[in-house]
Amino acid sequence: MKKKTTTTKDTQSLSAHQPASKMKNDRALEGDVIQLILRDHQPLKKLIQTLKKSEIERAENEPTFEEFAGLLIIHAKAEEKSLYVEMKGTPGLRLEGFEGDTEHAIAEQLVQEINATPDDHEWSAKVKVLAESVEHHINEEEEHMLAKVAETLESSARQKIGDLYTEIKGELESVHRPLPLRSRKIIENRLN
Ligand SMILES: [Fe+2]
Ligand SMILES: [Fe+2]
Repeated sequence: MKKKTTTTKDTQSLSAHQPASKMKNDRALEGDVIQLILRDHQPLKKLIQTLKKSEIERAENEPTFEEFAGLLIIHAKAEEKSLYVEMKGTPGLRLEGFEGDTEHAIAEQLVQEINATPDDHEWSAKVKVLAESVEHHINEEEEHMLAKVAETLESSARQKIGDLYTEIKGELESVHRPLPLRSRKIIENRLN
């Protein structure tokens, strides 16, 4: 995919010195993978505020966790198979691409452990740690990674990656939400 060589109008509004979360939401950027990711982080961030509370009870919060885990897996898989793939093939973005993959794998592992534990206290502890680590991951993406992507990849490339992100997300959503973990695994295996 074509890489950015000169400063263009879009990079002036998407500078590395400007966190992605503060980027201008103008019409030219609709469909840009950066905007799509920022939008999909919003519901996750809301659910994290509930799940990271120390007194979280399993009986009361299991539906919130299920909703969070479903949205998280869909977002993470779409991000990995579109933006992270491109980043890993782009000098200057490779490290962040692998870092993202690794953090997603750790979160996915935690989701599996949470679903498997019969112990309510272990459930609460792991959900809290998951919520905190995903919050950190999202903040890193919004404050650093996406700004670097904006600086490195042309707007047209980001639109193409955005199209792929939307396609993969749609494929997952059409069969996934809301599904139990067993069904989720079948879909994920199909995409791997
Ligand atoms: Fe991510
Ligand atoms: Fe993300």
